[in-house]
Amino acid sequence: MSADPAVAALIEAASAPYRRAGRFAWHFARGKLRGDPAFAAILREGLLTGSTCVLDLGCGQGLLAAWLQAAAVARRAGSWPRDWPPPPDPARLTGVDVNASEVARARAALGAAGQFVHGDIRHVDYGPADAIVILDVLHFIDYAAQEAVLRRARAALGAHGVLLMRVADAEAGLGFLLSTLVDRLVALARRRRLLKLFCRPVREWRALLTQLGFETRSLPMSAGTPFANVLLVGRLP
Ligand SMILES: C[S@@+](CC[C@H](N)C(=O)[O-])C[C@H]1O[C@@H](n2cnc3c(N)ncnc32)[C@H](O)[C@@H]1O
Repeated sequence: MSADPAVAALIEAASAPYRRAGRFAWHFARGKLRGDPAFAAILREGLLTGSTCVLDLGCGQGLLAAWLQAAAVARRAGSWPRDWPPPPDPARLTGVDVNASEVARARAALGAAGQFVHGDIRHVDYGPADAIVILDVLHFIDYAAQEAVLRRARAALGAHGVLLMRVADAEAGLGFLLSTLVDRLVALARRRRLLKLFCRPVREWRALLTQLGFETRSLPMSAGTPFANVLLVGRLP
């Protein structure tokens, strides 16, 4: 349980809708939101503040949408931490995932709070967005496809858009090996096959974003976990 009461309340509120999607979905939501520092950091750092049209590529069961929805409700209810920037309250929140079960859980839990598309981020139309979030997804697609996705994300963003991207840093030693091991074990358990992953050092990810015109910064994003994850924030100047 988070020591920060505001975060603990958000975790409860964001997980609650998943009761509608079954026990697995609810437990998974609580476990992931409790253990993953990225969700609280996105709000605490105001990384999506002001975003009105958010696209979550590789959305899984829609946790980001649930999280942002809980944040907007908390703000309207007057229970938002005074020292945090305002949360976004997007008019449009779209998630895309290639896994039909994840999309079904997102739809069952969140209904009209988001639009959840069953599709491959390499092929679906992105439409316009002012924020694009890609958390722990790009290493599942090959290097050329990663670059194509980033080019299309850049094109989809408006003039002052933001791109949030979490990656494992391929130069980070044991933490990196552990994160890829977990991905491989999950794939083996779920799909009964060995997974090829396409990872890069953070400096290479940043160079790619810079080439596309983003100003980047990187925030370490694995506190409380044994991994070596980094949240890259790309802004269009
Ligand atoms: C580690 S999970 C992260 C889920 C979510 N971003 C989060 O942080 O909770 C990776 C997700 O990417 C999805 N994914 C992998 N390759 C994809 C692709 N080519 N198109 C769409 N989704 C993909 C998987 O189905 C999975 O739900």
